[in-house]
Amino acid sequence: MKITFRLNGETVTLENAPVTATLLDWLREDRGLTGTKEGCNEGDCGACSVIVTDDRGAKALNACILFLPQLDGKAVRTVEGLSGPDGTLHPVQEAMVTHHGSQCGFCTPGFLASMACAHLNGQTDYDDRLAGNLCRCTGYTPIIRAAEAAASEPVPDWMADAVPEAEGGSEYAPSNSDELARIYHAQPEATLVAGATDVGLWVTKGLKTLDPVIFLGRCEDLKTIDVTETEVRAGAMVDMERWRAAMADLHPSYAEMIRRYGSVQVRGAATLGGNIANGSPIGDNPPALIALGAVLHLRKGDDRRSLPLEDFFLEYGKQDREPGEFVEALSFPRQADRLRVYKLSKRFDQDISAVCGAMRITIEDGRVTEARLAFGGMAGVPKRAAHAEAALRDEAWTLETVTAARAALARDFQPMDDMRASAAYRLDAAGAMLARYFAEDQGLVTSVLEVRA
Ligand SMILES: Cc1cc2nc3c(=O)[nH]c(=O)nc-3n(C[C@H](O)[C@H](O)[C@H](O)COP(=O)(O)OP(=O)(O)OC[C@H]3O[C@@H](n4cnc5c(N)ncnc54)[C@H](O)[C@@H]3O)c2cc1C
Ligand code: FES
Ligand code: FES
Repeated sequence: MKITFRLNGETVTLENAPVTATLLDWLREDRGLTGTKEGCNEGDCGACSVIVTDDRGAKALNACILFLPQLDGKAVRTVEGLSGPDGTLHPVQEAMVTHHGSQCGFCTPGFLASMACAHLNGQTDYDDRLAGNLCRCTGYTPIIRAAEAAASEPVPDWMADAVPEAEGGSEYAPSNSDELARIYHAQPEATLVAGATDVGLWVTKGLKTLDPVIFLGRCEDLKTIDVTETEVRAGAMVDMERWRAAMADLHPSYAEMIRRYGSVQVRGAATLGGNIANGSPIGDNPPALIALGAVLHLRKGDDRRSLPLEDFFLEYGKQDREPGEFVEALSFPRQADRLRVYKLSKRFDQDISAVCGAMRITIEDGRVTEARLAFGGMAGVPKRAAHAEAALRDEAWTLETVTAARAALARDFQPMDDMRASAAYRLDAAGAMLARYFAEDQGLVTSVLEVRA
């Protein structure tokens, strides 16, 4: 496969690059660019952060779980490319020196890449921008101070990255969903790679060799978000940062949950389609989408079918998807916002959910007219709470009704004990989420983030 991208301003063309070589390994081992560090090699620490620019703009991504073919037609800037051609430091580098933002320095290149990307984009929400970069020794205050100090400095002209012309379209990297449908139908044993935030780990941690592989990143027609008066429809390749922005107006509680989905680097790569297709019982999108009444759209060759999202998840590790069939899109009715999504994890940022609860309850004249409750982390699949829903439906919207529905959750779920949470804790927490929904609906403040001294 031929790949063309820009690296720190220079065009690079690779013929026959191994399809699952990661950018991090290639930078360090083939190019000798060892500034970009390897910490965890699984997307958790941000030591490998680089800036990747495509037609939609620049974003910070983790190079350790980014395969070289994902860069075709894009521009990459590593820590070596942040200072100017004459050695002038980038404003964020200068500020890190002034504000003592680095001690051992291992995390520093990754922080600098994330900070320079935020600086380039004019983003100043540093708690979120830097949540995916871990520092063990300096502590975050001097680093945030440095980012704040650099914010008013102009973006250096050498940071303007143009994307190169690339040949595009191949059996490994179809350029639209029609081509994808044809290629995948012909080789259903292929591994589809969307954002590679799961698949990347199969290679870096599972040491798997994947062949054949089909990269979906060139299928622009799978990246659309259409919001009409009656429907919201998103293509499978919509990444979580774009989805968060789309949900911010329509369903802000969902958007707020996504803020805690991985980190900026993970969200910039991870796609909606990947999060559904992987079938994980702790994926964070399915509960929210099921509560919204989402329909999943699948395609195999020229055949298409649609099904309620909850019916896609058959049992742990098993989904209703045939060989050669892929997730094309999902849609749900445009509706008044009655959705609340609560993610419970041990760490606030970048942690996998112990329980993720999504609830949409509509009330008319003090009575519940519709209730859709869906949970992740409570069963082998993301699942609706049918008994709790029934306990709410057509009842008065009162604490007594909510208490009865909480009790009914025990008939819906027999969650498991694992290192994230015990079964009893999970059940209790799911019930508390329902109580929280009710409390918020009564106007009470329940989020500790909103409590001010
Ligand atoms: C550090 C880190 C933090 C994370 N945090 C979270 C989190 O907070 N919440 C959460 O839910 N997940 C989290 N994840 C998991 C992961 O990011 C998500 O599941 C993500 O949405 C997967 O999408 P992707 O595009 O990266 O999928 P990929 O890794 O590219 O693919 C995942 C699976 O889906 C298949 N696939 C991809 N696209 C399609 C398609 N269109 N049709 C059919 N099959 C397809 C692939 O073949 C593969 O089996 C995290 C991962 C990492 C590494
Ligand atoms: S090395 Fe830790 S995120 Fe890449
Ligand atoms: S400076 Fe040592 S890990 Fe951050």
